[in-house]
Amino acid sequence: PIILSQTKFTHRDKLRYPFEERGLQFGDGVYEVIRIYKGSYYLLHEHVNRLFRSAEAIKLVLPFSKEEITNLLLDLLQRNDMTADGKVYLQSTRGSAPREHTFPEDVEANVYAYVQDLPRNHKNLENGVNVITRHDSRWDYCYIKSLNLLPNVLAKQEAKENGCFEAIFHKDGLVTECSSSNAYLVKDGKIYTHPASSSILHGCVRMRVEQFASDLSLPFIENGFSLDDIKDADEMFLSSSTAEVTPIVSVDGAKVGNGTPGKHTRKLQEAYEKDAN
Ligand code: PDD
Repeated sequence: PIILSQTKFTHRDKLRYPFEERGLQFGDGVYEVIRIYKGSYYLLHEHVNRLFRSAEAIKLVLPFSKEEITNLLLDLLQRNDMTADGKVYLQSTRGSAPREHTFPEDVEANVYAYVQDLPRNHKNLENGVNVITRHDSRWDYCYIKSLNLLPNVLAKQEAKENGCFEAIFHKDGLVTECSSSNAYLVKDGKIYTHPASSSILHGCVRMRVEQFASDLSLPFIENGFSLDDIKDADEMFLSSSTAEVTPIVSVDGAKVGNGTPGKHTRKLQEAYEKDAN
């Protein structure tokens, strides 16, 4: 496999980082996960824009322009003869330098990106998934797609250990998002989700869900919802580049609505299907 390293292409086995690398030692970097369907990117432009927003927020200077990285990412798929469903993981860190909290001077950011196959999860899309709820212990800047994912990792592991697919985060009972996806509740034909504030990642798929809702004349209400609201929700679902629009059928062991994927969720899934293919 060919990977992108800085702004050059190299074989995957050739990539070597020194142990004094700021992504490794401080989580001092940002990343993106971009969906690929049949060898083509979905929402590439949106992901590149968010990458630059995240980098700017942590004062990281990326060693390329938006246009350059877009072309490099397109080239990456070609060089790997990518024709399947998959994803690209891209990360950029503040570089390699002797360990010191303050920014190193005259050090270029490290970047790599690589392609992985990722079949669509038809079982989850069809049947929906179970989730748990957990206190959101993350920092104040969750709109930055930073490499610091320990709370997310711990929550998702707990979900797995409880036979669930995701963990829904809440702050004092108010749902923010999931450990690696955005969360939504449907009640009386209206879609509720947390506002795109600094408390959540502004998902690229979330942006599309908002558009699909508008196309379907479903009110999209960014006032958030609470753990209490879940008890009389009609439907729930989550969204991300890897999970697409996935129905949520139970929360902490209790059924959502009648415990099967809801009709509005199905409509949004159909809209996604058309948009992505
Ligand atoms: N996660 N919220 C969080 C905390 C996320 O990590 C993600 C994406 C999303 C959805 O964003 P998008 O629609 O742009 O994929 C929301 C990726 C897939 C990951 O970390 O693997």
